[in-house]
Amino acid sequence: MEQVNQITKAFPNVDLMLGNHDVLPYRWAKEVGIPESMMLDFKSIFKLPKGWTVHERYAQLRIDDVIYQHGDRGRASAILNARMEFASIVQGHFHSKAGVEFYANATDRIFGMQVGCGMDWKHAQMEYAVKFSAKPIIGCGIVLDGTTPIFEPMLL
Ligand SMILES: [Fe+2]
Repeated sequence: MEQVNQITKAFPNVDLMLGNHDVLPYRWAKEVGIPESMMLDFKSIFKLPKGWTVHERYAQLRIDDVIYQHGDRGRASAILNARMEFASIVQGHFHSKAGVEFYANATDRIFGMQVGCGMDWKHAQMEYAVKFSAKPIIGCGIVLDGTTPIFEPMLL
């Protein structure tokens, strides 16, 4: 909750795309027979402010003709998903992938941007990642006017 407070203070207006890790409490509850209607919604659990909109898992958000999604829908990397959607895509999910790729035909140009993630692979909750040589790329993506994607990595 300390981290949530820091993030919500820094970013008062957010569209949050729920991912596979975010919905784990709901999946576990279902597994042991607790109906989802008995669970608090995600926004209430984390006491998210009014300016935050929580989008369901697998949702897609379109801004300036760019699709934003968590990344656990579709086939794989952002550029492959972009080609399948015939639209530019920004996504995370693949912790060790980050950057921008473009694809063009005679009439259109699209991009796929992987934004890495914000996870700490040394945290106990991410223990499963210890065995992989590839480690998370911490950073963020910025899109200007729906046409100019920029990925900013942070130092290790
Ligand atoms: Fe994910």
